[in-house]
Amino acid sequence: MTTNLIRGGTVVTERGRRRADVLTRDGRIAAIGDAIEAPAGAEVIDAGGCYVMPGGIDPHTHMQLPMMGTVVADDFFTGTAAAAAGGTTTILDFVGPEPGQSPLEALAIWRDRAAKATVDYGFHMTVLWWSEAFSAAMATLVNDHGIVSFKFFLAYKGRLMLPDEDLLAGFRRCRELGALVQVHAENGELIAYLQQKMLADGITSPLGHALSRPSQCEGEATLRAITMAEILDVPLYVVHVSAAEAADAIGQARRRGVKVIGETLPGFLAIDDAVYRAENFDVAAGHVMSPPYRPKGHQEAIWRAVEAGTLSTTGTDHCCFTKAQKRLGRDDFTKIPNGCGGVEERLHVLWHLGVNGGRLTPERFVALTSANAAKAFNLWPRKGSLEVGADADLIVLDPERTKTLSAATQHQNTDFSVWEGMQIKGVVTHTLARGRHVWADGDLRAERGAGSYLPRKPFGAAYAETI
Ligand code: URP
Ligand code: ZN
Ligand code: ZN
Repeated sequence: MTTNLIRGGTVVTERGRRRADVLTRDGRIAAIGDAIEAPAGAEVIDAGGCYVMPGGIDPHTHMQLPMMGTVVADDFFTGTAAAAAGGTTTILDFVGPEPGQSPLEALAIWRDRAAKATVDYGFHMTVLWWSEAFSAAMATLVNDHGIVSFKFFLAYKGRLMLPDEDLLAGFRRCRELGALVQVHAENGELIAYLQQKMLADGITSPLGHALSRPSQCEGEATLRAITMAEILDVPLYVVHVSAAEAADAIGQARRRGVKVIGETLPGFLAIDDAVYRAENFDVAAGHVMSPPYRPKGHQEAIWRAVEAGTLSTTGTDHCCFTKAQKRLGRDDFTKIPNGCGGVEERLHVLWHLGVNGGRLTPERFVALTSANAAKAFNLWPRKGSLEVGADADLIVLDPERTKTLSAATQHQNTDFSVWEGMQIKGVVTHTLARGRHVWADGDLRAERGAGSYLPRKPFGAAYAETI
């Protein structure tokens, strides 16, 4: 196995920073200290003037997901290679059973697909239908397969949405098993009504997508999920928070002691709904995801919620499609495959907007991109920390280096980027994934199948108290 010495950088964790060298051996952090001697055969990485931080954990990806008549463009190899190029060393992806399919059968399919990943990966299970059989299978998933987070949809009527009765049953089952409830919180009934109204009014373009999913739909569903979780006393994780109303509901709940964690995406901090008015269909459709980018004002509200700690993790909801795939909805916005890329750009965008923008310290950057997700999903301290014995997942970030984000130069398997043309300062120059030097100053050394599956343990009573 390889040995690496990362020399002369400023080591940052979610708790603080100091000048130190980091030695990795056999995939783990072996030592952190001053003037560590390079062992024979070690690869030495010069981190002078740079930050050395835990590799990113993206708790929300969809690789190779069959969806809306097509399949997501990134598979587990291309998607995790792109992740590594952007400093992310762990992903948590969502297993999605077909209607009526056993979740165990679906898991076997996802395990097979993910075997080609180049960084470590774990899974959440999506609860797309509810029955005694699903409930029974959940125990096997938790106890035998290390799947301890279950996602429920309050949106996508007729496809993924569950009625409140099933949500209650599913939430209660999670509580029994010590598992975490995750929700996609938008009011699916209202959205279905508004979609039909838009089409009846002749609005078929991508703008109809945004108009049919107003922020109040997210606020209502978030509060509904929180209310259920609070009364049932089960921890709740709200994915991809985009709306001020949702962030407010989470903030209020947290202040009264409810165990609710909010995740947001870099795009919701920076991009507004003007993108859906673009004349070019490919640009407007390229931004179609759910929830949608919000009207101006929400971005600032989401930033404030991040600064206040109300939203404490970031993911990407990486679910990328090519322009050709998005054209499936050329004449009807409800047929545009929902999702955008981003697994490669998350750290760069957050550093640039957050740290350079004076809204985040480097320590908060680590918390938001890595440590908090590790704690929320029971990967801590093996992931997200830079402790001796932890996995050697780390990045070197040069705060002076600049680059322009573009579909033409990205590693994500698509011809579109929501960050097209953005100039960022602060570039990940090196990525180590369990000690493997996968991104070496522009050289992507992704190895098919080098990533490992991460089974996780169920949660104890002190669920994620620190985030
Ligand atoms: O539009 C999105 N977000 N696509 C992926 C599925 C989901 O809702 O998370
Ligand atoms: Zn979602
Ligand atoms: Zn998603």
